[in-house]
Amino acid sequence: MSDIKTIGVLTSGGDAPGMNACVRAVVRYAIYSGLKVKGILKGYEGLLNGEIIDLNTRSVSDIVQKGGTILRTARCKEFMTSEGQDKGAEMCKKFGIDALVVIGGDGSFQGAEKLAKRGIKTVGIPGTIDNDIACTDYTIGFDTAMNTAQDAINKIRDTATSHERVSIVEVMGRRAGYIALTVGITSGAESIILPENGYKYEDLLNNILEGKKKGKLHNLIIMAEGIGGSMQLAEKIEEATDIETRATILGHIQRGGSPTVMDRLIASQMGAYAVKILLEGKSKRVVAMKENKIVDFDIFEALAMKKSIDEDLYELAKILSI
Ligand code: ADP
Ligand code: F6P
Repeated sequence: MSDIKTIGVLTSGGDAPGMNACVRAVVRYAIYSGLKVKGILKGYEGLLNGEIIDLNTRSVSDIVQKGGTILRTARCKEFMTSEGQDKGAEMCKKFGIDALVVIGGDGSFQGAEKLAKRGIKTVGIPGTIDNDIACTDYTIGFDTAMNTAQDAINKIRDTATSHERVSIVEVMGRRAGYIALTVGITSGAESIILPENGYKYEDLLNNILEGKKKGKLHNLIIMAEGIGGSMQLAEKIEEATDIETRATILGHIQRGGSPTVMDRLIASQMGAYAVKILLEGKSKRVVAMKENKIVDFDIFEALAMKKSIDEDLYELAKILSI
């Protein structure tokens, strides 16, 4: 069991829908367990600047349904240095923070590991729309982002069909194609282009021309942001096929918005779990979801894990788009 009296909570890296539900769960579960809670604003930047506030049960009222993060978030260069990390640990001690819950991605977990080395108990919770954290099947925000993308793609598809066009839709994911692959299947896309395996231009063209011959009224291409160049690709396709082609970049609409039931639920479970394991005396851990169960891993082990695209799902998408 632990001697923790006060825990801190921060959100770091890109915001994700469900982060607020997670903050709420951390705060309320901690207070329920007899702890005091402090909220650190703007991630590690706020930690270094002492932007730290007391949180009570009412501080997290009316946020379970809200997108973004009430704690706000940032990317902090100073915290990447060992001097910055020393200062971060000192600030925790100065504000009486014995343990810290960090909601973010792999980068944020690296920061949590650095604080753990300096005597601050830490637990990371995966929060990113990309679902690209290897140790977990699920990251907070993924479901909402996919549903937002899906809603937009449905609308784009209507126009693509009406005008018998090729439509390229670029979804978020600089290094990871999990959003693209999933919504590619659920949108009935003719092609899915992922940063993990790229694409052959000739295959894309053949697919468009073959589809036309087979009587398809549109050709929908879902492309992950990391590939880039969707506007130029649309021009190239139109020139080569003589079929009107448009590209749409969905961008940051995928990061905001009210979280889905799934994001709120998993965020609530993970937030409470993080506090529970801190109270059990654990530190330097990452909370994860594995086979529908909430579990935890050592941060180092978690960061060393690899995650790859589900090739079966990718093949299924091809089969179902014939
Ligand atoms: P994410 O957490 O979503 O992966 P980033 O990679 O941008 O996002 O990381 C968020 C923040 O975490 C960074 O701005 C930095 O302050 C901190 N961070 C990232 N990598 C490290 C590292 N190797 N050591 C210490 N802090 C780090
Ligand atoms: O990691 C989440 C994410 O939305 C990625 O999908 C995207 O590549 C990146 O963040 C965009 O970051 P920013 O908001 O800094 O432009």
